[in-house]
Amino acid sequence: MFRKRSYSLIVIGLLSVMTMALLIYGSRLFTDIEEETHITQENRIVVGVSQLGSESGWRTANTESVQETFTQQNGYFLIFNNARQKQENQLKAIRSFISQRVDYIIFSPVVETGWETVLQEAKEAGIPVILMDRNVDVEDESLYVTCVGSDFEKEGEKAGHWLERELVERGISSQAVNIVILTGTEGSSSQIGRSAGFAAVAARHANWNILEEKCAEFTSTKGKEVMKTFLRRYPDIDVVVSHNDDMTFGAIEAIKESGRTVGVGGDIMILSFDAVRGALEMVADGVINVDIECNPNQGEYLLRVIDMLEADEQVEKKYYVEEDVFTIENVTQELMQDRTY
Ligand code: AHR
Repeated sequence: MFRKRSYSLIVIGLLSVMTMALLIYGSRLFTDIEEETHITQENRIVVGVSQLGSESGWRTANTESVQETFTQQNGYFLIFNNARQKQENQLKAIRSFISQRVDYIIFSPVVETGWETVLQEAKEAGIPVILMDRNVDVEDESLYVTCVGSDFEKEGEKAGHWLERELVERGISSQAVNIVILTGTEGSSSQIGRSAGFAAVAARHANWNILEEKCAEFTSTKGKEVMKTFLRRYPDIDVVVSHNDDMTFGAIEAIKESGRTVGVGGDIMILSFDAVRGALEMVADGVINVDIECNPNQGEYLLRVIDMLEADEQVEKKYYVEEDVFTIENVTQELMQDRTY
């Protein structure tokens, strides 16, 4: 199934290092380097990673997880590219990985559609493609090997279920509830899944009024801007569902500036996704009511998948990362200290 590993990229690098070493230090050191590099060359797996951007704290943590995993010490040569939210940049990066004949391509698709051609090219070149974080919408599933990421629909349902329980606990489950939703990048798996999951729960409650759902691109600046519009348009918002913590930070600023209060005991309930440390601190302070965790530490899962592929073992089509739900009841000091992001 897999093409023999190509070392051309490493070989060029190593030749330059060896030539320099010969010029500077003479032949004894050259021999040492040659022996050492021979071993490294034998073992290294070349991985091309196309990250979609750096829009959020979650994304930065996801990038760090990949970079800390695919290290030289672990036997990898990582070629990393940041696409800055543009699908065209991801397409370019993937094509460049193909022409460099990497051993594996890992990429986090900014949106779900538009990947068939490039994935077909990777398949024809015999390079296995692993999806990270988000999924692709393709008819032929053999175009990628597996996908490591979150169950976004389940995340959306978790938010809906939390709201159901909260309204019952407050004894207001039959009153009208006005909801606005800040969504992430349109057409991304996280936006599609979270919207669908929450909508499925909301559909069971005729008294839940979704006033508006609007894209704020997973960024804090946009989150604030869109929230300001919502506040101007709707004077009686009860609940904000925000598809990630960065947008939540912006939204909270906008709400506070409008003179309204948020969180536990406040005017507006805040339901967020990701659970980065700054947001967990807000959960602990009662500013965010609930944070649905999205786990960015996917490097170790990807490593395991590649180990299996290297051993010619069968892999599943989807691997879900472990995720929790945090409220003021279960967020602990220890948890917040342990968060590296
Ligand atoms: O796809 C995962 C989402 O993308 C995270 O929730 C968000 O923060 C990120 O940018």
